[in-house]
Amino acid sequence: MCGIVGYYGSENAAPILLNGLEKLEYRGYDSAGIAVVDGGKLQLVRKKGSVSELFSARGIQGHLGIGHTRWATHGAPSEINAHPHVYGKFAVVHNGIIENEYSLKEECRARGDVFSSETDSEVIAHLLDFYYEGNLVTAVKDTVERLKGSYALAVVCEECDCIVCVRKASPLVVGIGKNGVYAASDVSAIAAEGVTVYSLDDGELAVLSTEITFFNQNLVRIEKEKIEYDAEEEIPDLKGYRHFMRKEMAEIPQVLGKSIYDYTEETYREFYRILTQTEQIQIVACGTAYHSGLCAKYAIESLCRIPVEVCIASEYRYLDPIVRSGTLALAVSQSGETADTLAAAQLAKNKGAYLAAVTNVPYSSLTRIADAVLPTNAGREVAVAATKSFHAQLVLLYSLASALAKAKGREECLPHIYDLLDQVKCAEETCEEVRSWVPHFLGARSVFFLGRGADYASSLEGSLKLKEITYLPSEGYPAGELKHGTLALVDCSTPVVAVLTQKAFAEKTMNAVHEVYARGAKVFLITCFEEYCNRKEVTSSVLIPVCKEEFTPVLSVLPLQALAYYVSIARGNNPDKPRNLAKSVTVE
Ligand code: G6P
Repeated sequence: MCGIVGYYGSENAAPILLNGLEKLEYRGYDSAGIAVVDGGKLQLVRKKGSVSELFSARGIQGHLGIGHTRWATHGAPSEINAHPHVYGKFAVVHNGIIENEYSLKEECRARGDVFSSETDSEVIAHLLDFYYEGNLVTAVKDTVERLKGSYALAVVCEECDCIVCVRKASPLVVGIGKNGVYAASDVSAIAAEGVTVYSLDDGELAVLSTEITFFNQNLVRIEKEKIEYDAEEEIPDLKGYRHFMRKEMAEIPQVLGKSIYDYTEETYREFYRILTQTEQIQIVACGTAYHSGLCAKYAIESLCRIPVEVCIASEYRYLDPIVRSGTLALAVSQSGETADTLAAAQLAKNKGAYLAAVTNVPYSSLTRIADAVLPTNAGREVAVAATKSFHAQLVLLYSLASALAKAKGREECLPHIYDLLDQVKCAEETCEEVRSWVPHFLGARSVFFLGRGADYASSLEGSLKLKEITYLPSEGYPAGELKHGTLALVDCSTPVVAVLTQKAFAEKTMNAVHEVYARGAKVFLITCFEEYCNRKEVTSSVLIPVCKEEFTPVLSVLPLQALAYYVSIARGNNPDKPRNLAKSVTVE
């Protein structure tokens, strides 16, 4: 992933690059750097850590430059591995992965080149040096023809008064404003009133100088259409909260209302027709979005009796999946930029599925390949660990289930989804109740989350949140499967969180609770059934409101998110920026 910015214009480039990089830190914050060209000289500043480490670079003079914030793939986070990578007269910033790095480096070494970093990206600067014969654009073209993998690149050269950008399978946009022209891996880095933004497609090049010139991969000039974006996108503000994660959880009750849809023939014509005629749904997603897909599977199958396959996108994209005719593919992605989800979505579409994008970013790459776009409207999510976007995805997918169930003459569920708006406010209160559980988790070596059916899907999300921001090993497990091996890990130091909202399985889940209690584990219960709260096996419980059973993850996941949050801060972590993770994963 990583973030790219570039600027050419009448202003000093350095402060503009640094401001842009700060907005891109959600893509990675292992290290950062900028390269500014002034008077035919490259000036390079790189630092390990966040963009704020680059404060000394603000004073650098020069009207043209590139910058990067890194999430390490090849080589540890360090100053030497930070971008821009410089070789000879060239500096390059790269997002993506160069898959033939090894053979290209061998070739360069055979010519006498010496590499200073462990990155795959540095080889691009070496190739530019080799192919350059006075024209940067042709050197970039010749270089990218040698690359296998994915890339978004911005390149500068000491001798050239321009920036050259090119992309393949990694997002890159350019923009024209009144004080200059810009490049970025994400519109948010350059979005401002009056900036006209264009998105590059695979293979296209843009040359940024006093204007922007676009070329196709054969260097034939092309015209591009501007893209729409929200210039007044809300500037992230903690509004008195200590962390964005907690603030974003608090926003869940108001977010939900914006993600509930009444899909009807009149309002969603083509999509409604596809939805109500579909015989199979495939959901492709990663991380938390995958878990919202799993929750939706339980609801759609139960309410509509339509098979739903939920696929981890990184698996789906390489497994030659079977896509029957009449398949609706739902690609679920907060960012709309996750590389694996994009590839899986494209594959589903190529195989004949109708592709709908369930995303929080209306101008993302996913929306550009989709047949229909279903915006989740959760508002910008800053914390790396997804919270409100998960809830928004859930109610959107439940709205689909509701429309489908109604079209099939099965039942009318939309009022139950609207009921969630009040119920979630009560569930929000349990976020503070779980704080008393925190001491039991601080010394734990591992944690289990148990549930059946939709509660199992909620358990998986609870476990993922805990792992992401507390670094405690944990597993979400189907309650009935525990005894087939994993019970061996449970002892008196293992906190177990049981989620119990499905009446039909309640006693069955309690069997698993008995089993772990008998091995000395302390059990923490999240339930909507009061009768289980005071059982002797239960150390502590929180009671969430009763809602339609299919929709319970909307309520049960809130205290799970809060548990992870409070354990994280008790362990001294920054829950907004967990180590090794990034908000948007634009590489494989
Ligand atoms: C990263 C984030 C997760 C997120 C996943 C999918 O791993 O750290 O929080 O769930 O990507 O992201 P998406 O934007 O596709 O929902």
